[in-house]
Amino acid sequence: MKIAPSILSADIGDLDSAVEAATRGGADLIHVDVMDGHFVPNLSFGMPLIEALARRTELPLDVHLMVDNPASLLDDYVKAGASWISVHWEAASHLHRLLDRIRGHGVRAGVALNPATPIEVLTDALDLVDFVLLMSVNPGFSGQSFIPQSLVRAGRLRELLRESGREESVEIEMDGGVGPLNIGSISAAGVDICVSGSEVFGQPDPAEAIRLLHSRSEARQ
Ligand code: DX5
Ligand code: ZN
Repeated sequence: MKIAPSILSADIGDLDSAVEAATRGGADLIHVDVMDGHFVPNLSFGMPLIEALARRTELPLDVHLMVDNPASLLDDYVKAGASWISVHWEAASHLHRLLDRIRGHGVRAGVALNPATPIEVLTDALDLVDFVLLMSVNPGFSGQSFIPQSLVRAGRLRELLRESGREESVEIEMDGGVGPLNIGSISAAGVDICVSGSEVFGQPDPAEAIRLLHSRSEARQ
């Protein structure tokens, strides 16, 4: 299981400490939540923060675009230093074109699905994705409770990937309400990457919190 601490829950006035803790704790990616105040009610950050992170770490930046028009600034996010980019299915009117563009930059392309969006909408796009981000809360804020149905959804997605022969090449990422108490069952449901915000940066020792997530994910129960 890969762990992607979400910078949304960190003190962005002290990025050095956040990056240092993520690195020391053995994070695999750094998750960056870009919110535009339209697609989701909240407003977070954009290119300058991605650039500032890229200057501080070699860890891949996993940029989650919660924006109404992901096409408009896509190239700038790549230039800023994103190495993974996910766009929401609910916000992409030309998904194939968008995913092609992301991959054309040599960046891993992902599609994010809100908790109420059926998994099956991805059936005809699986050839173009490197990962699928399943939202396990309604996007917009950290610190919300994990929606239990997300485990069933991960299983259904795994099944869909198997049927389409994409199981080896597409990773499943779970985002929202993930912590040491549920990461074992999330791992058992076939998830490859977990995002965690408040359960990492909301803790007194974020590096230790990442280590705990890694070890609990191995329990797979
Ligand atoms: C929510 C974001 C998440 C958030 C996760 O819209 O996409 O990445 O930072 O935070 P926690 O782990 O606290 O739910
Ligand atoms: Zn996110």
